[in-house]
Amino acid sequence: MAVLTWDDSMRVGVTDIDLQHQELVRLIGSLNSAMADGSSHRVMQETLSRLVDYTRTHFATEERLLERYGYAEIALHKAQHEEFVAKVDDFSRGFEEERLFLSLEVMDFLSDWLKGHIMGSDQRYAPFLHEHGVS
Ligand SMILES: [Fe+2]
Ligand SMILES: [Fe+2]
Repeated sequence: MAVLTWDDSMRVGVTDIDLQHQELVRLIGSLNSAMADGSSHRVMQETLSRLVDYTRTHFATEERLLERYGYAEIALHKAQHEEFVAKVDDFSRGFEEERLFLSLEVMDFLSDWLKGHIMGSDQRYAPFLHEHGVS
């Protein structure tokens, strides 16, 4: 089942990051509603573009912290962020072209990303940042 609402298992214990993750989950929920209630492609595209902008800001926050303290898995972590941006850019084009079955593809991807990245990779750096006194 798709993960689309915030829950405490997503918390990394760093205030700024947790607030950003909550906003990201909220934006993903809005996109899901826009797609489910048959909103126009324009509305979906605007929602997606807000999600992309916000995600870029969020990735920059995380990468700055991980770089500052020399996180060992930084290269892998950044590569996952880049992959996300590339994929969502492709979805954006898909909305423009009115690509078939795009909504399902988008939500599958975002839901996997919440589970695999926010609840996986992001959780893995949490103890590292805590050791450096970041909270
Ligand atoms: Fe994150
Ligand atoms: Fe991340």
